[in-house]
Amino acid sequence: MPFLIFANQVPMDVKSSIHSGNIPKHVAIIMDGNGRWAKKQGEDRIFGHHEGVNSVREIVEACGEIGVRFLTLYAFSTENWNRPKEEVDALMELLVSTISMETPNLHSKGVKLEVIGDIKSLPLSCQLELKESMEMTSKNTKVTLILALSYSSKWEITNAVQQIAKMVEQGKLKADQVSSELIEEHLSTSKWPDPELMIRTSGEHRISNFLLWQLAYSEFYFTEVLWPDFRKDDFFRAILAYQNRERRFGKTSEQLSRH
Ligand code: FPP
Repeated sequence: MPFLIFANQVPMDVKSSIHSGNIPKHVAIIMDGNGRWAKKQGEDRIFGHHEGVNSVREIVEACGEIGVRFLTLYAFSTENWNRPKEEVDALMELLVSTISMETPNLHSKGVKLEVIGDIKSLPLSCQLELKESMEMTSKNTKVTLILALSYSSKWEITNAVQQIAKMVEQGKLKADQVSSELIEEHLSTSKWPDPELMIRTSGEHRISNFLLWQLAYSEFYFTEVLWPDFRKDDFFRAILAYQNRERRFGKTSEQLSRH
């Protein structure tokens, strides 16, 4: 009997079904559902954020195992500053303690830490911890873990436009020389390829001001799983789904099959 796989079924060993020849270089994740996960356990929202750190650790490891080179995690958005002060403070403390505790582990696994966002708006303790961790891991090449912190895409694009407008104002550039490449060079992600895959957990179907430019041609994968429950096999399922997509970049299927 032929082995049939239905859309919502995956083989028992998800990881071994992944084709090594078609691994996305860059995966971006909106880690959502920590608060709901905690509520379901009868706990405070911050309990969910703490548990979410275990998912972060697993997914970074999973990237190393299958060869995903860049992982961007939306850890704190510009809009998250509007949450209750106790939650913001607890999240900042969690960031500091997690980065401090996890850096030796990340370093030993060849992970390089990078950050995007309005870093100057973070508490000084957080800025210092990030700086130390980025310095320590700067030579690593296996996986680059990019934390989006106090980040929003509209903030990032506005910054890029301001920098380019200054160049035009100073006569270094003509307005019609502003190209998509030039805009990309002024985004905080200019060093890395655009994500081929964007995952959002917890059943929400939005991109919430995350990498609006960089996700122009990314595949989106939405799952009902809440972030603290999202572990390696869930990640591998997302990779498998990505591998079953046809990426056309505006072309037709027939054009693609000719190559
Ligand atoms: C969204 O869930 C999650 C966040 C705003 C914070 C994510 C932070 C972590 C997982 C911990 C720290 C991470 C690192 C990288 C050290 P939510 O609170 O919006 O959940 P809800 O939608 O159920 O309310």
